[in-house]
Amino acid sequence: MINYSVGTGDLKNWIVAETDFSADVLGKSEAIMMLGNGYMGLRSATEEPYIQEKRNLFINGTFNKSQENEVTELPNAADFTQLDIRVDGERFSLEFGETNEYIKQLNLKTAELTRSFVWESPKKKKLQFKFSRFVSLNNMHLIAMKVEVESLSHSVAISFDSGINGQMTNSGAQHFLEGERRILDERFIQLSQKTSESDVEMVFNTVHHFRFNGEPTLPVADKDMQRRKVWMAYEFYLEPNDKLEMEKLSTVHTSRDQVVEQNSMDFEQLRQLSIEELKQYEEKGYDVLFKEHVKAWHDQVWKNYNFKVESDHAFDQLALRFSLYHLTAMQPPSGYEHLGVGAKAMSGEGYKGHTFWDLEIFILPFFIYSNPTAAKSLLTYRYHGLAGARKKAEENGYAGAMYPWEMAWPEDGETTPIWGDIDIVTGAQSKIWSGFIEQHISADIAFAVYQYEQVTGDKEFMERCGYEMIFETAKFWSSRLEWNEERERYEIHNVIGPDEYKEHVSNNAFTNYMAYFNLKLAERYAEQLSAQNPQFLETFDLGDANLDWKTKAEKLYLPEPRTTDLIIPQDDTYLQLPEIDLAKYKNQSKVRMIYRDYNSEQINGIQVTKQADTLLLFYLLEQTFLQQDSRLSSAVKQENYQFYEPRTLHDSSLSLAVHAVIANDLGESDTAYSLFRKACEIDLGEQMNTSDDGIHAAAIGGIWTSAVFGFGGVRFSESTLQINPRLPKQWRRMQFAICWQGTALTLEITHQSLKVTAYDGAVTFETDGKTYHIQNGEIEIQIGREIEINSH
Ligand code: BGC
Repeated sequence: MINYSVGTGDLKNWIVAETDFSADVLGKSEAIMMLGNGYMGLRSATEEPYIQEKRNLFINGTFNKSQENEVTELPNAADFTQLDIRVDGERFSLEFGETNEYIKQLNLKTAELTRSFVWESPKKKKLQFKFSRFVSLNNMHLIAMKVEVESLSHSVAISFDSGINGQMTNSGAQHFLEGERRILDERFIQLSQKTSESDVEMVFNTVHHFRFNGEPTLPVADKDMQRRKVWMAYEFYLEPNDKLEMEKLSTVHTSRDQVVEQNSMDFEQLRQLSIEELKQYEEKGYDVLFKEHVKAWHDQVWKNYNFKVESDHAFDQLALRFSLYHLTAMQPPSGYEHLGVGAKAMSGEGYKGHTFWDLEIFILPFFIYSNPTAAKSLLTYRYHGLAGARKKAEENGYAGAMYPWEMAWPEDGETTPIWGDIDIVTGAQSKIWSGFIEQHISADIAFAVYQYEQVTGDKEFMERCGYEMIFETAKFWSSRLEWNEERERYEIHNVIGPDEYKEHVSNNAFTNYMAYFNLKLAERYAEQLSAQNPQFLETFDLGDANLDWKTKAEKLYLPEPRTTDLIIPQDDTYLQLPEIDLAKYKNQSKVRMIYRDYNSEQINGIQVTKQADTLLLFYLLEQTFLQQDSRLSSAVKQENYQFYEPRTLHDSSLSLAVHAVIANDLGESDTAYSLFRKACEIDLGEQMNTSDDGIHAAAIGGIWTSAVFGFGGVRFSESTLQINPRLPKQWRRMQFAICWQGTALTLEITHQSLKVTAYDGAVTFETDGKTYHIQNGEIEIQIGREIEINSH
């Protein structure tokens, strides 16, 4: 049972807890309580092993292909967390004996995982256990663990086998060569390994430190090795009330760090230096390192984002903290511009650590508004991906950059697997078409670049990377469009739109409008540069590409709202498909239940949508220079929401948050709040299996988005900040920080008022159609009416 109400006092709404243990449902707490710092992600498996566990450590960017016919994936690196514990020779496991006072908890504030309980062994030896660990935000290579044991009843012998286990696989797929094991100075354990195909070298180090009744002790230990595994075996004797404490400090370094650190250390130097570093950590010890880590979380996250919600439901505040916690755990460290964010971040093997459009449309908005430096780094990752995108375009006979649907190491290009789930009708593996024909990703990336530029005003990024990304994606679209002679227009055939329940469709409205946006954006940027900096524009050698974008965009078919009911056809055939009663699937307790009754081909032939598709157009494009387009008017938005939502199963975690924002825009406050809650429950809900493969990174971005873009009403509108809050009746107040064009702002919102404070800069924004300007000061507006202006 997951429990969110154990935190009290200062820890109210900060604790995600599991208050009983079941060896059958380990996945949920392993994933939602994962620890990470963007450099690495450690799934929160228990110290003692269980058959159903998924013990994962992922080091961001260390992609490897286990076999020629597999796609590259984030390898499951060597494990430090497993401890084999014996009490008087009996193996310690919660599957035996009796466990009381069990609690496993993630403290979001301190990013520490703890687990404590009283365990009575089958031979009735009673012990109190407490395990703690954190993945440091302050020292990105460090994982720290602590075990505290007290004997409560008898004199017992307790032993620990603890070390580094490189026998890990990704569900059986082995990614590492055998490697080398050594123990230095009788205490420092080291395993060095190389990935089998990508040649990434990794060094894992660990050291143990013991205290017996508070006094440091250096026990004699046996040293043991197996293939890919090296460990020490320690044994202690505890009388009743004796307390034993073990600290285990471990580090990870890889040759890929050097891409950032730009040093040319050889592997042997890296191995030695990493041991020196570990010695320094050991001198500090768990508690001091933990303090540094907590301070980093406080300064970089909680103080910085300053997110507060007063709600009838305490859970809402916790959910927002949960979202900020995971967004931080997935944020690549500063300077690591070759790292993206996987669809499951680094919390599970799902989606192989690959980056999807989830990043640009669902996760990046948080970073763009709250941490522009991190946003820039993630967009630079896509910039580095241009090489792979150009390769993909060329292979498919197109020009420019055709971004991969799934991206791993930037130069790898397309990494979407080709084969997926079993088809329930034919029994064969079904083909995954997204890597071939889900093409909107290139325009989604263009949108993100534009959003970043509008919100941050960062011209340096645009000149270094952004313009090139926009021009290259426009060149792709221009070569991708197909001329329909009969209708005298360009069309886009044979694609998958965001709704992956419709494969091989033509003129998916989302794809066509986004391609149009991408072409128009390139045209605008080229025009702006031609006026402001023609010499710089020449470096792109565009020839008459600009003219080509203009004519093609003008002749590109954009499905119009039907005159009868304003519905924009999702694609050429959707509106002609038969409808079925979707009630069973709309009320499902698990996603994708429709696959129990229909196969992909059959789902393709019914009016059913997996996730927000056409509706996304309103969500995105109404912020752009296309906002005046009558095809995207509020009336059209309203009708399309009413039409498509009932046909949408929200079978992708990307769907609910967007619907929450749109429902809020349309004044459907209760629906918006209920959709927001459902979006939070994707990972935080009661279902114990939904996060087994990892958390849903886009949905976690969506928690922030539905609060800030939805209830907070923050949006950009062509370089203007819009703040049109509409709190749900369940919320009394919300407060958060954003950054607008270099100025840090705090927004405090109630049902009656909006207070904006600008620090170190000026801001102009619009609320209810009126423009306000503040410089180093604050303004309080009655929603719709200004009452007070103070300048500092
Ligand atoms: C969704 C995609 C998404 C992917 C990764 C799929 O189920 O349909 O839109 O990018 O999951 O989250």
